[in-house]
Amino acid sequence: MSEYSTRSATERDLPSIAAIYNHAVEHTLATFDLDPPDSEYWRARLDGEHPGDHLLVAVDTDDRVVGYAYSWSFRPRPAYDLTRETSVYLDGSVRGRGVGRMLYPALLQTMAVSGVHTAIAAVSLPNPASERLHIACGFTKVGEFRQVGYKFDQWIDMAFYQRMLVNMPTGDAVLG
Ligand SMILES: CC(C)(COP(=O)(O)OP(=O)(O)OC[C@H]1O[C@@H](n2cnc3c(N)ncnc32)[C@H](O)[C@@H]1OP(=O)(O)O)[C@@H](O)C(=O)NCCC(=O)NCCS
Repeated sequence: MSEYSTRSATERDLPSIAAIYNHAVEHTLATFDLDPPDSEYWRARLDGEHPGDHLLVAVDTDDRVVGYAYSWSFRPRPAYDLTRETSVYLDGSVRGRGVGRMLYPALLQTMAVSGVHTAIAAVSLPNPASERLHIACGFTKVGEFRQVGYKFDQWIDMAFYQRMLVNMPTGDAVLG
């Protein structure tokens, strides 16, 4: 795993991040987006709207972005502020090689340092790699919704996962 590392995203990384996500939008059921978001979408995630929002990238030894993970609003009403929703996407070339198991805990630990109380993730089904990753990172499945998304001419189920972050060890947090 030493060929990959995790760091905070910078503005320079945004096109690579967008390319990874846009491929998933256009070719997979992993996201319910039907069209690629504009550059403002990623700019907002880089800037964050709340202290618990972070955008991290996984990079190879040439500092090429191979994946990203971020935290963002779960729901907009202010009592939800210390609950953040998480998302993680990797380039197809590095999946199944432990990059998710490196990057996602770093995001969760960074969120914990920021005082986030709990993380929520929505996983469209089926997605065995994502479900395994969430379980491996300490999430618990809290429920499944039936047929809440419609994409590529099919109905899609969605699972919610939750991970409490209070008292989480934060040794791999990525700050700054
Ligand atoms: C989901 C994703 C982030 C997982 O990251 P990854 O680097 O591929 O996963 P890892 O190699 O770190 O493995 C994480 C766990 O999932 C398991 N896993 C990986 N790929 C798997 C697969 N295709 N099927 C079943 N389990 C799988 C691993 O064995 C590991 O479990 P373990 O720790 O209990 O042994 C990555 O595959 C991805 O970007 N997928 C496309 C986008 C996506 O679906 N994002 C999530 C949206 S909710």
